[in-house]
Amino acid sequence: MSNRIYVFDTTLRDGEQVPGCQLNIDEKVMIAQKLDELGVDVIEAGFPVSSPGDFRSVEAVSQVVKNATVCGLTRAVEKDIEIAAAALKSAVKPRIHTGIGSSDIHIKHKFNSNRDDILARGVKAVKYAKRFVEDVEFYAEDAGRADIEFLARLTEAVIDAGATVVNLPDTTGYLLPTVMHDRVSYLMNNVPNVDKAILSMHNHNDLGMATANTIAGVQAGARQVEVTINGIGERAGNTSLEEVAMTLKVHKELDSYTNIKSELLYPLSQLVSKTMRMPVQPNKAIIGRNAFAHSSGIHQDGFLKHAENYEIMTPQEVGVDKSDIVLTARSGRHALKHRLQLLGYELNKEEIDLTYIRFLDLADKIKEVNDGHLVTLMQEMKVETA
Ligand code: KIV
Ligand code: ZN
Repeated sequence: MSNRIYVFDTTLRDGEQVPGCQLNIDEKVMIAQKLDELGVDVIEAGFPVSSPGDFRSVEAVSQVVKNATVCGLTRAVEKDIEIAAAALKSAVKPRIHTGIGSSDIHIKHKFNSNRDDILARGVKAVKYAKRFVEDVEFYAEDAGRADIEFLARLTEAVIDAGATVVNLPDTTGYLLPTVMHDRVSYLMNNVPNVDKAILSMHNHNDLGMATANTIAGVQAGARQVEVTINGIGERAGNTSLEEVAMTLKVHKELDSYTNIKSELLYPLSQLVSKTMRMPVQPNKAIIGRNAFAHSSGIHQDGFLKHAENYEIMTPQEVGVDKSDIVLTARSGRHALKHRLQLLGYELNKEEIDLTYIRFLDLADKIKEVNDGHLVTLMQEMKVETA
């Protein structure tokens, strides 16, 4: 039976921490409603203790979201937990996400503490959060660099304390996918009560491996993925929702699925980019401007013969209207002929050869040739539409 993978979206919390990307309450509510429509399972709406504005945002999101669980972040601190519980009180399905650093680096240099004390604080925080909500997720911050035996002990202890989900963040984006797979497998095999909770992937992208690490964790048994739209987030960002959702959809052999309505990915990506004033890089997988654009002659020819030669998913599957053939000096005759046909010009071989020479000359000068340029070229060459 295929594995249901739960999508935990943290665009409004980890994503919104990016300088310049802050959202007001109305914007947060609007994006939360769109995330709910998209089919995410959990919306992390903010860190309520961090500011009165964030408190009100989590409160407002809790009031409008109908299907997804709404989650608020806390430190392993009672006051944070009380404030998060208050912000979440109208949520249909509330979740408190509490936790503490788990690597020796964090234990020593952030908390000036020791492993046993950290474990006790984690357990106490989970038990305290359980007084307010049933659904408590524990994060072992910097789990990627934590001693694996200690991480197993911590995971077991917080599950015993009532955690429904244990999040194992690669906070610094440090791990290699094979290592992530080994570490999650170790926990799946060495934590006696692991079947009582879900293990979650929360990977940052410092080495560009967040998606690969998340998929490796899923292959080893993690059942929740923590992601953001467009992969926005601290430093190099978080794991991108669209990359994980489409990897799970395209790779049937992973035998896993999410409830994401993939055709809503591109419109939501655009909305988040605009609202957060954060442009999407053109070559970004799935939702970048060039993700379905073909520009070299060899690729254009192959694509025009059969789209699957150069596309592993259709643009429509992710909400993009159509693939694009970009006409540049690297384009071939096949693409030029195809575009001229779309514009109504039927040219024979000799005419195409002649036009191609003039087209290359123009493309070398102006880089990208659009439909307007082609029509002008046809007029100059005194060619009429068919
Ligand atoms: O990256 C991280 O470790 C986090 C936790 C607070 C969940 O964002
Ligand atoms: Zn994070």
